[in-house]
Amino acid sequence: MVLSMDPVKKCLFPVAGLGTRFLPVTKEIAKEMLPLVNRPIISYGVEEALASGCSDLIMITGRAKRSIENYFDRSFELEELLKSRGKMDLYKKMVEISELAEILYVRQREPLGLGHAVLCGERFCRDEYFGVILPDDVFLGETPILSQLLEVHRRWGGTVVALEKVPRDEISRYGVVRSEDMGNGVHRILDMVEKPRSDEAPSDYAIMGRYVLSPAVFPLLAEGRVGAGGEIQLTDALRRLIGSEPVWGYVYQGRRFDCGTQKGWLAANIQLALEDPELREVVLDSIKGSKNF
Ligand code: UTP
Repeated sequence: MVLSMDPVKKCLFPVAGLGTRFLPVTKEIAKEMLPLVNRPIISYGVEEALASGCSDLIMITGRAKRSIENYFDRSFELEELLKSRGKMDLYKKMVEISELAEILYVRQREPLGLGHAVLCGERFCRDEYFGVILPDDVFLGETPILSQLLEVHRRWGGTVVALEKVPRDEISRYGVVRSEDMGNGVHRILDMVEKPRSDEAPSDYAIMGRYVLSPAVFPLLAEGRVGAGGEIQLTDALRRLIGSEPVWGYVYQGRRFDCGTQKGWLAANIQLALEDPELREVVLDSIKGSKNF
């Protein structure tokens, strides 16, 4: 096992997926750039990583994802325009976004699967544990989910995945674990399988889009074994890691919205609007149908 008591500083964001569940909008727009009220989905993941203590962020991007890079970069023209018009609040906000974090970008040339996307980050995380955030899973709650997983990692060592109990009729969308409940939300993972048939799923606990991974996963991913959906699956590599290193699951606290789907994205927008004192009234009035906006 890779032993390290160093704090986890690196976080990978695999964002090279095609987003077919959200077509046609994702034909031209990266799904990570879809707005949650007035901020793109990706900004929630970045803030979660920073709030969890990670300072080195690495995005694994694909062809159609230039807009993500542009969003976190300076935009001198826009900044000058805002300044010249005296819109200093907006100007400061724009600069703040580009100063949020130092982000590196790596291309995944072909969308060969999540496992392959993680492998693309190997040269940055070869010798240390690292976080992984799948940004279309947006979590709202008091404590960032990644920091909850990092807490388990500090106590127990090893790899940690986020777990959620999901209804049987939805289980085949996820990686599913067989595990031993250790108490306080911590599970020792004994086995896992990607997208099982619902009658073959080993439990109701599914893996969600947050991980603390051991670098020992890279050689397993590099074997390039193709799994469910013809993709190189992270779940398959983690499954093989179980024999040699501890792999934990943590039943996170908070609410999750799968913003890679229309339903989850819509629900997240409504939830965020309800939490905003001004927008709350807008949601309620528009449901009543009593007002024009
Ligand atoms: P998804 O399962 O959501 O796939 O990927 P997708 O292609 O993004 O979207 P759909 O299913 O076609 O609608 C889970 C995560 O893995 C990344 C995605 O960007 C997302 O964050 N991913 C997936 C990659 O980076 N590369 C891949 O080859 C596949």
